[in-house]
Amino acid sequence: MLLIPILSAAFFAVTAFAQPVTNGTNTTYVGPENGHLVIVGGNLQSDKIWERIISLAGGPDAPIVVVPTAGGESTYGANFSAALSFRRLGAKNVTILHTYDPEVANTDDFVAPLLKAKGVYFGGGRQWRLVDAYAGTKTEKAFQAVLDRGGVISGSSAGASIQGSFLARGDTAGNQAIIGDHIVGFGYLKNTAIDQHVLVRNRQFDLFNITRKYPDILGVAIDEDTALIVHQNEAEVFGSTYVLIYDGGFWSREGSELKNPPAERFYFLRPGDKYDLGARQVIITNATGGGDDE
Ligand SMILES: *[C@@H]1O[C@H](CO)[C@@H](O)[C@H](O)[C@H]1NC(C)=O
Ligand SMILES: *[C@@H]1O[C@H](CO)[C@@H](O)[C@H](O)[C@H]1NC(C)=O
Ligand SMILES: *[C@@H]1O[C@H](CO)[C@@H](O)[C@H](O)[C@H]1NC(C)=O
Ligand SMILES: *[C@@H]1O[C@H](CO)[C@@H](O)[C@H](O)[C@H]1NC(C)=O
Ligand SMILES: *[C@@H]1O[C@H](CO)[C@@H](O)[C@H](O)[C@H]1NC(C)=O
Ligand SMILES: *[C@@H]1O[C@H](CO)[C@@H](O)[C@H](O)[C@H]1NC(C)=O
Repeated sequence: MLLIPILSAAFFAVTAFAQPVTNGTNTTYVGPENGHLVIVGGNLQSDKIWERIISLAGGPDAPIVVVPTAGGESTYGANFSAALSFRRLGAKNVTILHTYDPEVANTDDFVAPLLKAKGVYFGGGRQWRLVDAYAGTKTEKAFQAVLDRGGVISGSSAGASIQGSFLARGDTAGNQAIIGDHIVGFGYLKNTAIDQHVLVRNRQFDLFNITRKYPDILGVAIDEDTALIVHQNEAEVFGSTYVLIYDGGFWSREGSELKNPPAERFYFLRPGDKYDLGARQVIITNATGGGDDE
């Protein structure tokens, strides 16, 4: 009988994720109670996304800390590409923060640039490197404190996946296995797994491996140069293409009842569409639009 392993997997999922996995703000919101997340699905090209991060941090004077650690290079200089993008678009106070050593990440000296930061940006690469360097350290606490004081946490590709509570593609052997040897992210978006580069790389079926094994997890897959912007329970798609939602349900602006999706399903949200992370359903606004033109 398959029933017993399925039930025990579901039970494990509930017990493993019922407790918050980081020491964040005590809140019942899925996203941050204060501040914003800007979660970008890789290949961040659009100035309007960089500008949105600067603006959510508080404008050009807001201190922004760029964390390139996922990239795996031996060293990083002040002119790391993401820092150049922020400066080119007007940010005046951009600092690079990097170590692979959790003992260093747990020192007051290392954490100092974060103490007044209003923005954090995690660059791309392999998301488990962020966990190995910062999980459980003063640096991880200081990241959360940026949100608590109303700032923004942002990141692209690996820097998107790290923001979920379940770390998608956290495998040290490579970027293909969606359930790897690291499965706990920084958890700014609770009870979620976040994938990236989804359409460009035809990854749209991969998140089912997580949602089958951990049925209480919400799957969110973000395409390139597109962001999901989150405050409390409200998420809005911003950027060029689409965000895919794996909440067990289905939605179409044309009329969900007209569709006949398979049992395992996902659906697309376009820029401007909004999603209620608490209710796990699309927020219908006048801007949502119908599928009226034929
Ligand atoms: C979180 O807040 C709730 C409601 O205010 C409270 O019952 C609970 O004890 C708090 N948990 C922690 C870990 O502070
Ligand atoms: C950057 O922000 C920090 C923290 O507020 C501040 O101490 C520092 O003077 C600022 N640097 C510049 C160049 O504005
Ligand atoms: C960064 O680029 C600026 C402008 O090109 C240059 O003056 C500066 O020396 C560079 N800094 C580093 C650490 O490479
Ligand atoms: C979370 O908070 C508890 C209680 O304050 C503490 O013992 C623990 O070390 C913290 N964990 C992390 C990852 O900071
Ligand atoms: C999903 O699980 C199947 C079965 O274990 C495995 O063959 C496949 O590689 C997994 N896919 C991903 C993207 O991890
Ligand atoms: C939405 O459209 C309806 C009908 O046109 C209108 O009455 C309502 O004020 C609109 N709501 C908003 C928030 O614009």
